[in-house]
Amino acid sequence: TIEQRIDLLLPLMTLEEKVGQMNQYNGFWDVTGPAPKGGTAELKYEHLRKGWVGSMLTVRGVKEVRAVQKIAVEETRLGIPLIIGFDVIHGYKILSPIPLAEAASWDLEAIKKSAAIAADEASASGINWTFGPNVDVANDARWGRVMEGAGEDPYLGSKIAIARVHGFQGETIADLAKVNTIAACAKHFAAYGYVEAGLEYNIVDISNSKLYNSVLPPFKATVDAGVRTFMNSFNTLNGVPATGSVFLQRDILKGKWKFDGFVISDYASIREMIAHGYAKDEADATAKAVIAGSDMDMESYLYVAKLVGLVKEGKVKEALVDDAVRRILRVKFELGLFDDPYKYCDEKREKAVIGSKANNDGVLDMAKKSIVLLKNEKNLLPLKKSGQKIALIGALANDKNSPLGSWRIASDNNTAVSVLEGMQQYKDNQLTFEKGADLTVGKISFLDEVVFNTTDKSGFEAAKTAAKNADVVVMVLGEHGFQSGEGRSRTDLNLPGLQQELLEEIYKVNPNIVLVLNNGRPLSIPWAAEHVPAIVEAWHLGTQTGNAVAQVLYGDYNPSGKLPMSFPRNVGQVPIYYNKYSTGRPIDSDKNVFWSHYTDVEKTPQFPFGFGLSYTKFDYKNLKINKPAFTKGENVQVSVEVVNSGNYDGKEVVQLYIHDEYASVIRPIKELKGFELITLKKGETKTISFTLTDKELGFYDNEGNYLIEPGTFKIMVGGSSDKGLQSGFEIKE
Ligand code: IFM
Repeated sequence: TIEQRIDLLLPLMTLEEKVGQMNQYNGFWDVTGPAPKGGTAELKYEHLRKGWVGSMLTVRGVKEVRAVQKIAVEETRLGIPLIIGFDVIHGYKILSPIPLAEAASWDLEAIKKSAAIAADEASASGINWTFGPNVDVANDARWGRVMEGAGEDPYLGSKIAIARVHGFQGETIADLAKVNTIAACAKHFAAYGYVEAGLEYNIVDISNSKLYNSVLPPFKATVDAGVRTFMNSFNTLNGVPATGSVFLQRDILKGKWKFDGFVISDYASIREMIAHGYAKDEADATAKAVIAGSDMDMESYLYVAKLVGLVKEGKVKEALVDDAVRRILRVKFELGLFDDPYKYCDEKREKAVIGSKANNDGVLDMAKKSIVLLKNEKNLLPLKKSGQKIALIGALANDKNSPLGSWRIASDNNTAVSVLEGMQQYKDNQLTFEKGADLTVGKISFLDEVVFNTTDKSGFEAAKTAAKNADVVVMVLGEHGFQSGEGRSRTDLNLPGLQQELLEEIYKVNPNIVLVLNNGRPLSIPWAAEHVPAIVEAWHLGTQTGNAVAQVLYGDYNPSGKLPMSFPRNVGQVPIYYNKYSTGRPIDSDKNVFWSHYTDVEKTPQFPFGFGLSYTKFDYKNLKINKPAFTKGENVQVSVEVVNSGNYDGKEVVQLYIHDEYASVIRPIKELKGFELITLKKGETKTISFTLTDKELGFYDNEGNYLIEPGTFKIMVGGSSDKGLQSGFEIKE
């Protein structure tokens, strides 16, 4: 067995070789952080040859991977193969929609398939481990990394996390041995999604209730799904860096949850404990990280420099090193690396798989499913397929780079199908394109700040003329693909640059506007929400963007996405989320100002969680619960009828929310506890059933105990978190 093989190998290893397994180096360039002094390619090669490197990240391509693997296997004393990690966040070469967009599909099969496509391409390129999925629940759209997660809800987030783990790794751990699967990594453990004020790398101070009920469930779900690795995070949690947290990594993850894979630090996060003011110096940071359960050091250069000495001085027990190494070797064995270290290094497969037609078809399917229709008045959508004069306006409409989104390292620039190219395929309309104004100026890259054009309006007049002469105007506006992601916190959620002004100018000459939004986070667009008749949320949809958007605009695909995050009216409402708590004064009962509200804007979101329209219409009726009262432990059966009463076949996400009306720790006013994506033909009715078990009816108290308490519950079933049919039941002791 694998454990027996580890038992044989471990005693052969010197302390230096064990520590080497716990050391990960970046490829021979810097990606998301500067290498500390001394972190040169020469040093990395020297350490590789000595067997002091267990893993590399961001090395890619069969040729490059084979070269480093060859050193590990053929030049080191024990020949232990490297595990090769890479940020395969939403695809590898062919890009899927950004993860937040995929979450809007609520389509778990499609999401799993998308992760499997990413694994297929990455593994064909020599990679065997991804740093995903990101399962950070987040409700602050100012934080740029909301684009990498599944949004604000722990229930939806958990289901998607499982789908992604199975997509990357296969259904069981045995599937990891296949050549087209890769090890997954649940990140960032934990609570990175709650950085204060949405500011990147900031501290996190949250309640235990939030931690246990919102942050941890998706992580726990990945452990149950068999995820092989975890990454800890840059942030502190209630005063302690996550990287140095015994509570998170030893007590919860490896203790309570019995996780038997390994934990990698985030990029230099062990060293950053010094800057946080938690570790005195390099040795202290090293000791604290190992003791806390960070098994592998990503680019801090500390384990390799300090750990052997700390063990020899008796400051870190060798048993902790052995435990970390056992975990790392276990995953290497499971991947089959000891049996064939070059199994991912097949040039023929690399050529055949990467960019294949099947993979392109898969990401197109995912892209269509990720689009959310936010508004559709005046019957503007779908567009007619012939005889319409359409003006397409906005620099993003002709952009082949921005729609690829952030967090892409292996894909080539400018490889997305643009919206213009997508729409040009519908030839029987008269289509004119005007950018109106450039969105950005200067260099655009993963590493550079995006700078917006705020002065050059020279294209406005041509755009206005095109709009005046058109029946319908399609405007593609929003964020540049590199405006969200790591290091891209914002204090405003508006349309950047000159876009709002352009929108209002065009509206003056032709109000028949379809606004196609491109963005990596919720935006606040109050003017557009009020004035523009049709709004389509198209995120950053990856390689197939233009094809997906055009098919939705022309009605060849009926949109079915639902928002995975609330869209605020105003950035001042952030954090805003549907699963909030009641205050003591939730409504205006006394007709004076002393109730929980803002004086300048409604407190509801512009577009709520779970919201999304279709070209058809769905009605809900006959919500039923099988009994009015239940004893603890009994299942609650809920059913509802859904009718497609509109003019198109379509898909709907039927959502079930509960409210535990009183509890020993207050519960949110609504919590998603079930959903089903259904397809209904025009005129068709379906009965949908849900079962609420202990898993859905309980909650965690402030000590992390899971409780089901007697009391009354409300339920709501509908097509959005803000409205639906209501009923209720009681749970008795
Ligand atoms: O995986 C990432 C992580 O999400 C942020 N820091 C760098 C890591 C490796 O690139």
